[in-house]
This record gives sequence, structure tokens and C-alpha cells, in this order.
Amino acid sequence: MPGPVDCEQRADRPKCSRTNFCCRLLFNPVQDIAIDLASNADREWCARVMASSDPWSTLGRGLDDCLNRCRRPEFVVPVARLAGERCGFVLLHPSGVAGSPYIAAIATSAEARGQGVGSALIDAAERWFPDAGHMFLCVSSFNPRARSLYERRGYRQVGEFQDYVITGASEILLHKRLVRP
Ligand SMILES: CC(C)(COP(=O)(O)OP(=O)(O)OC[C@H]1O[C@@H](n2cnc3c(N)ncnc32)[C@H](O)[C@@H]1OP(=O)(O)O)[C@@H](O)C(=O)NCCC(=O)NCCS
Repeated sequence: MPGPVDCEQRADRPKCSRTNFCCRLLFNPVQDIAIDLASNADREWCARVMASSDPWSTLGRGLDDCLNRCRRPEFVVPVARLAGERCGFVLLHPSGVAGSPYIAAIATSAEARGQGVGSALIDAAERWFPDAGHMFLCVSSFNPRARSLYERRGYRQVGEFQDYVITGASEILLHKRLVRP
């Protein structure tokens, strides 16, 4: 996936209405995945996706809790769209772990899973803060499919919080050193 491009440079794309974030527009020519910053309405959609999906349902995160998280202004929230329809998001804290960016949540809509959207969002997260040398995230011990996606993408366990959100499950802290071209 290519890096951020100025959408005004793309003749096949209309000018982004969120002018502040034009330079953040990402575009995947293969799968037509566009990634840009969430509006308030997008953040509500993200919260609904979270609340209706594992791992958050198993962790007891209801809609109110997910809304509180997704609305927090300190989070940067890139949203993925396929053919203009929202299909996934990543909730990013710019300095969430030891001063480095932290992926606080990532999800795709149930019907979009397995099409590369999650991978495109991880790519976008890793490029979002150009000066960052590290990225962190947590994955629940009962979520081996997500964990294997992260490990395939170079994330490694650096910590484990036992019985952290719910008894009997751990939150596994993963880290990746970001290599810049
Ligand atoms: C994890 C997730 C964001 C990945 O997005 P995606 O668009 O499905 O991912 P990609 O198509 O780029 O990659 C596919 C890989 O994602 C993982 N994956 C697919 N469906 C998944 C699911 N329901 N739950 C967890 N991981 C899943 C698998 O590793 C899969 O590879 P595989 O098909 O070889 O098993 C997405 O599946 C999802 O939203 N899952 C539910 C929420 C979740 O677990 N979020 C992570 C919290 S740490």
C-alpha cells in the first residue's frame, strides 16, 4: 500500500471535504480502500462496531463504554472505506505506551473481514506518526486469530497482564519496531 498522498494530486478522487486532513488520505489502488480521519458520526459507527463484536463483548464493553472511548479527543481515529462505505477503523493513541503510539482498538465490519482492510489499517497506523519508531497494541488471550495477524506483521509479545479486564483472560502487550525507508 502506498503512503499518504495529497488527495489533490489524485485526478480520480474528489477533493476531500475535510481539508485539514487531505494530506492524510490513503488510497489502495488494488482494493480501493480509502482511509481518512473519522468525523463525529464515524466515531459513533466505530463504537457500534466495537460493542457488537468480540473481543469487546466478552470483555464486557457495552455501547456506552465504547462510545466514551471512541469519542475521546486524544484518540486519532482513521476510518477505512470500501466504495465509500465505512468498513473498519483503528483507534490510535499518539503516545499511549512509553511515549510511543498505541493501537487501542482495531476492527472491521463483520462483512468486510478477511479482505485486507485490517492489514491496510495497521499499515496506516504505522505511517500515521512519521517520527514514531515503535508501535504497541494489546490483544486478548482468547483472540488467537487477531494475534496471528499481528505476529505475521512483525509484532512480538513484550508483556502480559493477567486477569486484567476479566478474570481468566490476559491482555498481551505486543510491540513492533517501525523501520522507516
Ligand atoms: C482483527 C481484524 C481487525 C482484522 O481485520 P481483517 O480485515 O479481517 O484482516 P485482514 O483481511 O487484513 O487479515 C485477515 C486476518 O485477520 C485475522 N482475522 C480474520 N477474522 C478475524 C476475526 N473475526 N477475529 C479476529 N481476527 C480475525 C486472521 O488472522 C486473518 O488471517 P487468516 O484468514 O489467515 O486467519 C478483524 O478481523 C476484526 O475486526 N476482528 C474482530 C475484532 C478484533 O478481534 N479486533 C482486534 C482486537 S485486538
